[in-house]
Order: sequence, then structure tokens, then C-alpha cells
Amino acid sequence: MPNKKLLLAKRPVGMPDPDTWNLVSEEIPTPGPGEIVIQNHYVSLDPAMRGWMNDSRSYIPPVQLGEVMRAGTIGVVVAANEHPKYKVGDVLTGWGGVQQYSLTNGDNYYAVDTSLAPMPTYIGTLGMPGMTAYFGILEVGKIKEGDVVLISGAAGAVGSVAGQIAKVKGCTVIGIAGGPEKCAYLVDELGFDGAIDYKNENVYAGIKQHCPKGIDVYFDNVGGDILDAALSRLRLHARVVICGAISQYNNTSAVKGPSNYLSLLVNRATMQGMVVMDYAKGYREAAMNMGQWMMQGKLKSREDVYEGIENFYETFQRLFTGEKRGKLVLKVIEE
Ligand SMILES: NC(=O)c1ccc[n+]([C@@H]2O[C@H](COP(=O)([O-])OP(=O)(O)OC[C@H]3O[C@@H](n4cnc5c(N)ncnc54)[C@H](OP(=O)(O)O)[C@@H]3O)[C@@H](O)[C@H]2O)c1
Repeated sequence: MPNKKLLLAKRPVGMPDPDTWNLVSEEIPTPGPGEIVIQNHYVSLDPAMRGWMNDSRSYIPPVQLGEVMRAGTIGVVVAANEHPKYKVGDVLTGWGGVQQYSLTNGDNYYAVDTSLAPMPTYIGTLGMPGMTAYFGILEVGKIKEGDVVLISGAAGAVGSVAGQIAKVKGCTVIGIAGGPEKCAYLVDELGFDGAIDYKNENVYAGIKQHCPKGIDVYFDNVGGDILDAALSRLRLHARVVICGAISQYNNTSAVKGPSNYLSLLVNRATMQGMVVMDYAKGYREAAMNMGQWMMQGKLKSREDVYEGIENFYETFQRLFTGEKRGKLVLKVIEE
């Protein structure tokens, strides 16, 4: 059986098209001394992948043309050559890329226990998006009991976890998401106190209605007009967490910045960007806390799993159309 892998073929302008990547086959690699081969079962599809395709300065180097598309993965070690830490059968998560087998020295991989949670959860709520939510809402948002917390992209992988953590900590939580089904999910299943359907409602009016006294913490996943609407309702000493700006990632013109930023001045508020990798030292403790909340039924995890590396492109598009329910995952192992 060959190793199918997806190579970046060109740098997209705007929304990527199917020719952006090439799917190729090669022999499954053989590990050299100190190396392992992991058979990837699941690939994580994340909005950040769009940014990694641009040839511009960022928090991580861009994916080069001809390289395997960078992505988070989880899989099983199928070959090991005198590896000091990992053996055949270990389940590891790391940056394996969009491919069925990864050859690695094991650096930056973590072993996980699939008797505690299924594989997709380890690249979702207990993986990078969950860590982003955890450190974003607790360390950057500095939430405290009684805060009014507004979250955009609230039905997504990061937003849904950030909102549930804020509920655990005794905050009033309002989510912004696209469509009545996602809004009902936030309130009825995740316990949010309210939801605003940005595709069918006026967001300014919705924030005013749900947060009559204003917002203490705004956790932003989308940027653009929604960020501006949130800025217009800040309370004194509010914190704005800049986690992402998915509404701007496929722009062909300049990113739309906030025009209501003087609200930061008036309200002595702060707006702070964050990158999850800065918190790597705390991942283990965060995963333990989140695992506990999951066992107590306080934190729900939802993954939307699609199948087949051949279906990468149409699955990837769902990040931007919103046609998905929860964390987007692609199963790449062929059974
Ligand atoms: N800073 C970090 O370290 C870090 C780490 C991970 C993720 N992030 C960022 O966090 C954000 C959320 O990531 P995620 O993994 O949770 O993604 P996700 O929510 O699973 O997927 C993206 C969601 O964004 C919404 N969306 C798409 N286009 C939109 C638009 N134009 N306006 C408003 N909403 C839109 C869609 O939901 P609807 O159906 O509700 O529209 C879609 O389901 C992204 O911006 C990502 O880049 C940052």
C-alpha cells in the first residue's frame, strides 16, 4: 500500500481552489536509526492552514511549495528503529501533515491514551483547538465569576470550548454563530446563556439585547464587522482576546481592521493577540483539567469527521462555509 500525501502546489489568492494541492503517492518510508513511522488515522483541518499557505511573515514559517501540507495529526507507530521513546503500537499526536504515513524523529509528538478519549478528541478539545480555548479564555481573557463573555465562532472547535470553560467559571456566556441550528446547539446543548445568529440577525442589536450592561471579555475568532460590533459594547477594563479572524483569511484586499478601537481608550480596555504554542508547557495540566470537566459532563466535545484523503479539498472548504458541526477532522486511514 502506498503513502498518499498532499503537496502544496501553488500559493492561493483568496479562497484556495482544487489545484492548490497535488495528491501524490510514494512508497511508505522506512525509519532510519532513531526514527519512527506513524500511520496517520486522522488529520485536523484548521483555519490556520490558510495562513500557512501565504508567503508572508507570521508566527511560523509558511509551507513551501512542493512540501506536504502542514496539519495536526493523530496515528499509530507502525515501525520504529531504535527509538529512545516510542515503540510500535504507541498512539501519537503531532504535526504529521496531510499524508497517510509520517516519518519522524518523534520531536514535538505527544503520546495519548485512547482508552480515555477517542482519537479525534485528541486533535480537537484535548488538542490544539482546546488548548487555544483554555489559555485564551483563562490567561488572556482573565475571566472571573460574574463576567459577561461574548464569543464569536462560538459553535466551532475553539469557541465552543472557550464558552463552556467560561460557564464552568461562573460567567454569563453569549455566543455568535451562523444559523439557527448552531445557535440552538449553543444554548440547548452547551448551556450558553444566549446566542446571536450573525447570518440572520443584526449583530449590534443582538449584543445590546443579550449584554445590556456590556461585555467584560470578548473572545474573537472571526474579526471584521463582528469585532467592531463587540468593541462598541465594551465595559470598563474589558479584555478582548484576538484569537483569530477567519472572516479575513481569504481576503483579496486589505484586512478590515476595527474602526471602533477608541472604545479601548474610553473603557481602559485591552486587546491582546495570542498564539497557542506559547503555552505548550501547560498543555498537560490543561488536558487533565479539561478531561475532568468532560467526565463531569461540564465540557462537551463534538467532532465532524469526513473520510478519505482524496476528499481533502471539499472538506477544507467547510471551514469557511461553516458547513460542519464542531471540530473538522479528516479520516485518512484506509480500512
Ligand atoms: N491564535 C491561535 O493560537 C489559534 C489557534 C487555533 C485557532 N485559532 C483561530 O481560532 C478561530 C477558530 O478556529 P476553529 O478551529 O475553532 O475553527 P472552526 O470554528 O472549527 O471553523 C471555522 C468556523 O468559523 C465560522 N466562520 C467561517 N467564516 C466566517 C465568517 N466570514 N464570519 C464569521 N464566522 C465565520 C464558521 O462557523 P459559522 O457557521 O458559525 O459561520 C466555521 O465553522 C480561527 O480564526 C482560527 O484561526 C487561533
